[in-house]
Amino acid sequence: MRIRRLRVYFNTPEGLVKAVDNVELDVYEGEVLAIVGESGSGKSVLGLAILGLLPPNTIVEGSIIYDGVNLVELGENVFREIRGTGIAWIPQDTDASLNPVLKVGFQIAETPLEHGKLSRKLIWSFSEKLLESLGVKPPRLRAREYPHQLSGGMKQRVLVAIGVSGNPRLLIVDEPTKGVDVVRKRQLLNLLKNIKNSNPKLTILLITHDIPFIEELADRIAVMYCGQIAEISTRTRFFTKPLHPYSKMLLESLPNRGFKPIPGELPSMINPPRGCRFHPRCPHIMDTCRRLEPPLVEVDGNYVKCWKYASDQQ
Ligand SMILES: Nc1ncnc2c1ncn2[C@@H]1O[C@H](COP(=O)(O)OP(=O)(O)OP(=O)(O)O)[C@@H](O)[C@H]1O
Ligand code: SF4
Ligand SMILES: [Mg+2]
Repeated sequence: MRIRRLRVYFNTPEGLVKAVDNVELDVYEGEVLAIVGESGSGKSVLGLAILGLLPPNTIVEGSIIYDGVNLVELGENVFREIRGTGIAWIPQDTDASLNPVLKVGFQIAETPLEHGKLSRKLIWSFSEKLLESLGVKPPRLRAREYPHQLSGGMKQRVLVAIGVSGNPRLLIVDEPTKGVDVVRKRQLLNLLKNIKNSNPKLTILLITHDIPFIEELADRIAVMYCGQIAEISTRTRFFTKPLHPYSKMLLESLPNRGFKPIPGELPSMINPPRGCRFHPRCPHIMDTCRRLEPPLVEVDGNYVKCWKYASDQQ
């Protein structure tokens, strides 16, 4: 997937919210790409743009090329074909995302049924098999239960099962660890690792605040700041020598890496700072940073949007 000059703006009574602003990102087949950043930086909106699930008051510009097709220009009818089987997602809120009056096995079979990939006769055997592969025991019984009969961990597995039921090529997982305890977090991590191992071609876009969670899972990390990409780096680079001053501060704010809060606040998404959006909080600020937006430049195969690395372009 090739995302170019993507803008997602919301028309609100307060003004135009620039939730995603000029994002450039490639997503490679088979990789786990984590999107990290503070709350409100545009991570979920980017995911929703890829899924074509934005509300009507949205202005979308630029391109999201998936399999040679620009998703931004796609009608809902065609999008429905892609959603679930081409691109699927695992929502974060288990209770809000499951239908309380439908047996979970049926919910799991819904996507392949809708896309004509499964006959009605096979609903139960399909969902039992999938639940079994995700470590749900006993699958025959669980498939026939309603969501309220399942524990939190089981419900999360059911959501994962729904996400992978259409055998998608790209799976978007939004904040999988929000409100999840340490034990369930570990289970979820193992579950995602197993899914990846059994399907090396599957691409996962993992949207999260939880940086320690991605340390074992992500191949690359894209850092978002105020609707833009600040850095795209390999896992090793990001965790050992992050390029962007914001990435460095984000890592140093973690409890096991210094617990240093990032001073200042995320700026307004309606009137973002001129020049580099991070300049009001950056300890390395230079004159240019206040005046001009830095380009996204390549550094050893990684990418960073910062004048420190692009000074020859000033
Ligand atoms: N439907 C909408 N209408 C107007 N503004 C919106 C809408 N959806 C999101 N926004 C705004 O877009 C910005 C980015 O939101 P987004 O949900 O992508 O943040 P996020 O990075 O996912 O944050 P979090 O980590 O809290 O989930 C925020 O300022 C948010 O208030
Ligand atoms: S462009 Fe300037 S203000 Fe922005 S992160 Fe780089 S050094 Fe800091
Ligand atoms: Mg979000």
